Amino acid sequence: MNQNTVNEIRSKIDIVELISEYVPLTKKGQYYWGICPFHNDKNPSMSVDEKRQTYTCWSCHNSGNVFNFVEQIENISFKEALKKLGDKVGIQLDGYSSTINTKYNKYYEIYDITSKYYQLMLNTDKGEKAKEYLKNRGIDNETIKEFGIGLALNDKDKLVKYLKEKKYDINTLNDLGLANNDIDTFINRIIFPLDDRSGRVVGFSGRIYDNSKMSKYMNTKETPIFRKGTCLYHYNSSKEYVRESKYVIVMEGFMDVIRASTIGVKNTIALMGTALTDEQISLIKKLSLNVYLCLDGDKPGQDADLHNGELLEKAGLNVKVVCLSDDEDPDSYILKYGEGKFKSLVMGAVNFSDFKINSLKTNVNFESDIELAKYVNNVIKEVSELKDEIRCEIILKKLANETNLSYNTLEKKLNEYKSLDEEGKKKSLDNLLKKKDAKKDKYIKASEEFIYYMLFNPKVIKVYDSKKLYFIDSNYRNLAAEISYYYHEYGDINIADFYTYLNDKKELLDVFNQIQALNMDEEISDVTIMEYVKVISDYSMRQEIKRLEEMMRKEPDELEKIKILEKIRKLRIGE
Ligand code: CTP
Ligand code: MN
Repeated sequence: MNQNTVNEIRSKIDIVELISEYVPLTKKGQYYWGICPFHNDKNPSMSVDEKRQTYTCWSCHNSGNVFNFVEQIENISFKEALKKLGDKVGIQLDGYSSTINTKYNKYYEIYDITSKYYQLMLNTDKGEKAKEYLKNRGIDNETIKEFGIGLALNDKDKLVKYLKEKKYDINTLNDLGLANNDIDTFINRIIFPLDDRSGRVVGFSGRIYDNSKMSKYMNTKETPIFRKGTCLYHYNSSKEYVRESKYVIVMEGFMDVIRASTIGVKNTIALMGTALTDEQISLIKKLSLNVYLCLDGDKPGQDADLHNGELLEKAGLNVKVVCLSDDEDPDSYILKYGEGKFKSLVMGAVNFSDFKINSLKTNVNFESDIELAKYVNNVIKEVSELKDEIRCEIILKKLANETNLSYNTLEKKLNEYKSLDEEGKKKSLDNLLKKKDAKKDKYIKASEEFIYYMLFNPKVIKVYDSKKLYFIDSNYRNLAAEISYYYHEYGDINIADFYTYLNDKKELLDVFNQIQALNMDEEISDVTIMEYVKVISDYSMRQEIKRLEEMMRKEPDELEKIKILEKIRKLRIGE
């Protein structure tokens, strides 16, 4: 990639001005400060450094240059951020964008053409029956257009012929799941295009619309650009609405999302009927920290609420649940009860912890001592994890009423759970502390501070080069090597541009983030540098010897053993 153009764009955009467009900043001392938009920030925890042209959140540790900021706040790719900021300062990147992802550009192109083709077919005479079906479900033309709904005709190779005419190779169509041995994959189905996180069509879902015995939905197979587990329906289109409402509603199917859109509820995404994956969770997190689960009202839906809610809460999201009445999904609920009822149901979404406690009650036989005791214990266990004491008391009082047990008994039990909890936590903390060994701490501190000074003081790079300093950790080792390389290539180190340079090296970027945030002085004495060098080399050498000794122990071949021994000897005498 053309690093110079990228750096030119970066240098023409002032980070303070840019971030101010999204977050109010106030100057205090050396930095500008604002509420961090990347976590649930209460105080202004994000500093913007005008001199270095970087930002750092001291609470959630998000940091970077203008590109990183725009990428995350707009939830777009690096390439898109580059284009956006390039446009702003009048630098076009035509050549640049086509050099990235060329392999898949053709795939996106084919999907785009196919999607348009399907949409066209819905509006022909042959699409009348499908249109009728959609109309009966209350989906009007405007909605059809908004969601790019189309039709695969009842013909075995209409699409294949069309794309072949356009000179696309049949093997590619097979790879993309659009065809099977010259036969169209989707035949006689209403087509819903599936977009990726930046809004490009990457797959399709087709639904039967007559009395056909085929399975209701059929999806594109997994391809290099489509995986069901990372797909969230309506993700890209929901962004602006989520930003406005400050929460995202998660539904089960795309018909739910489409229906909600017809009543103006557009801050929605759908899971496509799958279990929530880690990738989807981190995508949701980028959208909003506040999630309303609005899954089907039946038993599987409620179980999914519980399971998904747990996962989302663990990932640090605030979860609420919209409880639909029995056996309705958002689609059928809205049709049956109307816009107003649905909207007030959303407004009344319950906290996930309340939902969890409530759900403990389902199917408990209050006549059975055993079941009742189990239920009470389960509720108290949940309550012991709540921080709000008033809420705890309210729940316990309710529980006391409901079960005819005395409040005191319940409270005693709660305190038992709490002390158990505390002990557990203390124990794991003790273990953690024991594990941390002092020498390693010293090595980590020395390594990070040494690398920090490499970034800001060329003198330290010279020491690194001349001593051929070796870090036992590959992340420190590689980051130091990159810094030295960058310095020799570009003549100095511009922190903001270095962020871009590390863009593809995710693990180094994390270490770099952490180290640049040390925020120490930029001057350093020779004595301190040499102290760092000693700590780093001693520790790395000892660890390397340990590793070799272990290797030797496992080595069956005597000759190899001797070779390793020789290596150890050389390390010991410092060769
Ligand atoms: N799904 C699927 N394959 C199926 C059934 C369902 O991929 N055979 C996915 C679809 O993405 C669908 C979601 O699971 O949107 C939810 O399934 P379901 O509740 O059965 O679909 P509905 O949204 O109710 O669809 P419809 O109202 O059209 O029947
Ligand atoms: Mn459904």
